[in-house]
Amino acid sequence: MAKILIVDDELSMREFLGILLRKQGYEVTSVSSGEEAVAQVDREFYDVVLTDLKMSGMSGLDVLRQVSDRSPGTQVIMMTAYATAETAISALKQGAYDYLTKPFKVDAVKVVMEKAIEKAELVKENFKLKRQIAEQNRFEELVGKSSVMKRLYELIARVAQTKATILITGESGTGKELGARAIHKRSSCGEGPFVPVNCGAIPAELIESELFGHVKGAFTSANRDKMGLFQAAHGGSLFLDEVGELPMVMQVKLLRVLQEKKVKRVGGLHEESVDTRIIAATNRDLRQMVEDGTFREDLYYRLNVIQLDIPPLRERREDIPLLVQHFIRKYCSEHGKAFEGVDEEAMKILLNYPYPGNIRELENIIERMVTLETGEWLTKEGLPYHMMQEQSFNSLADDLEIPEEGLDLERMVERLERNLLVKALRKTGGVRKQAAETLGISFRSMRYRLDKYNISEKDLEL
Ligand SMILES: Nc1ncnc2c1ncn2[C@@H]1O[C@H](COP(=O)(O)OP(=O)(O)OP(=O)(O)O)[C@@H](O)[C@H]1O
Ligand SMILES: [Mg+2]
Repeated sequence: MAKILIVDDELSMREFLGILLRKQGYEVTSVSSGEEAVAQVDREFYDVVLTDLKMSGMSGLDVLRQVSDRSPGTQVIMMTAYATAETAISALKQGAYDYLTKPFKVDAVKVVMEKAIEKAELVKENFKLKRQIAEQNRFEELVGKSSVMKRLYELIARVAQTKATILITGESGTGKELGARAIHKRSSCGEGPFVPVNCGAIPAELIESELFGHVKGAFTSANRDKMGLFQAAHGGSLFLDEVGELPMVMQVKLLRVLQEKKVKRVGGLHEESVDTRIIAATNRDLRQMVEDGTFREDLYYRLNVIQLDIPPLRERREDIPLLVQHFIRKYCSEHGKAFEGVDEEAMKILLNYPYPGNIRELENIIERMVTLETGEWLTKEGLPYHMMQEQSFNSLADDLEIPEEGLDLERMVERLERNLLVKALRKTGGVRKQAAETLGISFRSMRYRLDKYNISEKDLEL
């Protein structure tokens, strides 16, 4: 039962409101001053505080401030005589939920009270959600406890309640599809189907029939009626992955479907209503595509009602150990293995790597380590070559010190380059093609550099 606190120094008003609101089924407490109200709010939680503005002692505005401080979930409604409506408006600005102008009608009180209580419930729900999420290290299939991920979880939980179309953006491998699945799971259609479509993987001439279906005879190979993915996702969610890859003609058609919630099969005459939640994803900059004229602006705004951006892994490194754990468990059970964990040296490398391929890349690395390792701990032996190289660059760069008197960067780098060229040539017995390969440069570039540094046979002698 919602709890209401009435604050008014006029007895008749307290009595009148008390009778009225109790009749509505609320639990009502009345006090005759702001001071008492504050004491009461400290003792108990109230959904709504209904306070008079002008009172001897603390004013209604003082009550508002104190209550919002002490009990941010409580909604405050101000009561005021007509003459002071302006003050009431300033109360709204300070966070009051609403105000009632005296003398008021019974209905007005009921309506405002109902809405305030609804708001209070919503705020309470959100607090609860926030608290739950704050304690979690994962959300549906998403693993991560960084503050950016927690914010994402909260947002997902909130948008899942709505029917709004959602656009998920983020680099490749950040978890856009997992995010879409989490939204679906948490929404009212979570029991319905989740249908993913990769818009970039379907040949342009087939997209329309894939999405909307076709009737028998619509084109040469259409030898029977076929349902589209939109219909398959009825009562659930359709995940339009790589939506930036949709050809222009399809963009127009998709826009129509989003507007009218109806689809027509290729070659069909009738439109069918579909009740499908649309979640789109892209790793491209759709706004830029709109500017370049390759993505329709109207469709962009239709899709982008709510945008969820999934941050790249390098911006939430604190999630790495947790993800490493998660993937070790996953691949150990898949490959029937058991490990203590990742040893310190390998973990250091894992923590410092920039992950251009984001979580998918980390996942692949861990799978590789799990498969290759034979000891008790996962070690750097299982890391891919380019990561080890990255690491040796790092330690090399870390070892360099700038002397007191400073240094000449150009010459320093040139000297380093020349040294490495000579070393590579010695290693390959002077074979330039092989030396170029060792250094990861082209043969042409090798020749150019040998010229530049004037390196000859003589330099190769020890
Ligand atoms: N937060 C996470 N916790 C656990 N696993 C994750 C997380 N994010 C991504 N993954 C895993 O990483 C892989 C890539 O995720 P997903 O396919 O959702 O990324 P994506 O953003 O859709 O990538 P792309 O743009 O390449 O399609 C999947 O195997 C997924 O299970
Ligand atoms: Mg994807």
